[in-house]
Amino acid sequence: MLRGQRTIFEGVRHAMPNETLTITDNRTGKTYTLPIDKDAIRAIDLRQIKTGPEDFGLLSYDPAFQNTASCQSAITFLDGDRGILRYRGYPIEQLAEKCSFLEVAYLLLNGELPGPDELDEWIANVTRHTMIHENLKKFMEGFHYDAHPMGMLMSTVAALSTFYPEARSIHDAATRKLEITRLIGKMPTLTAYAYRHSLGLPYVYPDNDLGYTKNFMNMLWRRTEPKFSANPVLARALEVLFILHADHEQNCSTSAMRAVGSSFADPYATTAAAIAALSGPLHGGANEEVLRMLDEIGSKDRVPAYIEQIKAGRGKLMGFGHRVYKNYDPRARIIKQVAEEVFEVTGRNPKLDIALELERIALEDEFFVKRKLYPNVDFYSGIIYQAMGFTPDVFTVLFAIPRTVGWLAQWQEMLLDGEQKIARPRQLYIGKPARQVVRIEEREAPAAMLATVAR
Ligand code: ACO
Repeated sequence: MLRGQRTIFEGVRHAMPNETLTITDNRTGKTYTLPIDKDAIRAIDLRQIKTGPEDFGLLSYDPAFQNTASCQSAITFLDGDRGILRYRGYPIEQLAEKCSFLEVAYLLLNGELPGPDELDEWIANVTRHTMIHENLKKFMEGFHYDAHPMGMLMSTVAALSTFYPEARSIHDAATRKLEITRLIGKMPTLTAYAYRHSLGLPYVYPDNDLGYTKNFMNMLWRRTEPKFSANPVLARALEVLFILHADHEQNCSTSAMRAVGSSFADPYATTAAAIAALSGPLHGGANEEVLRMLDEIGSKDRVPAYIEQIKAGRGKLMGFGHRVYKNYDPRARIIKQVAEEVFEVTGRNPKLDIALELERIALEDEFFVKRKLYPNVDFYSGIIYQAMGFTPDVFTVLFAIPRTVGWLAQWQEMLLDGEQKIARPRQLYIGKPARQVVRIEEREAPAAMLATVAR
């Protein structure tokens, strides 16, 4: 080993000898060799790089976590450059074609697809938990008629925490299993109640003879008929959309789920935090924004002018771009097919023509090509949901129902990961150095200070 060279290589069991990174700190001239494992170095290994004994050690600075893996996960594989998405190793295209949503939910939570017996048991368990406590209706009733459904969902999921205080036993496997099943069972019911509340319609209780999505449609749309009969094409389309939205590794809401869950908050409080993260227009809220954008554009001939506006820096093309996909989002490709099937039943949504024209022009335009901006999952989902009869403010809750499965799978994985601790990033402090407090009577007017803060 060279003079001044430090290594922590010995501490790593699986790394090959050449799987290392050698860094020279030009401040001190010292060289350090850090192990590389799974194409990553550990940020904590940088801490040994110091200019002297008083130095805290080197930090890595990564606003918005653009190049930081926060965990190891065996749930979802995503290759953004090649447009690949797999749940537990299975390609999303095959899962969307061959499986039901609850099969995929079982896969995400347990690691393997269920056999027929396991699936029957899983469906029976989820179905058993679709009812919600009558008192929860009072929470719903407290909301104004035009309350946003995401706000209602977030609040009522958080309220469930008070109905099931035993959920706090997050380290007990049986309790976790029960609460996960409970929450997956109740999400469609809460969503349907929020939807009907906004329309002033009476709530419809779950029908346990129906499957997950058909029962959801029943709770949304049943009027006076004794038994709701869902259109099978639309029910299957919803099922596919649920599968596509079920997980997407460490996205904003899942990171919120893991971060909040790392404090050992119960799964209801934690899921409410994830719902909050999903509600933003840069994340799950984008599907709603896409429809508003298409409304604003109004007709196909106005697309070029709209694109020019975006290129001039006035707003973003909603439903375009992704932090990880720098190639076509594979979910968007499947959704486009689903749209055709849905329109066979509902008639073509005229917004589709505007969306197709937007996509066509954007994919040829240097501005979007250079930035690798492609349609994401939200670009077409809203058009389908609208054709099915949903209003735009409900779109993001339709995302939250299936994503709850992914959140819970990731939450459980985080709890069982011996390496995880409470999430607590570092910061680079750029504020004032230490200074003395001056009593009010001797203090100068803070005008100059406030101007600095406002900037
Ligand atoms: N329209 C126009 N320009 C865009 C768009 C867009 N939709 N998305 C990114 N850009 C531009 C940025 O302005 C930036 O340009 P610059 O290099 O000239 O500054 C460049 O492309 C890179 O964009 P970033 O913001 O660095 O990309 P990031 O990875 O941080 O953001 C995000 C990803 C948030 C999804 C972004 O593309 C976006 O805001 N898209 C619109 C909202 C959307 O559809 N969100 C849904 C995402 S999918 C999901 O969450 C389910």
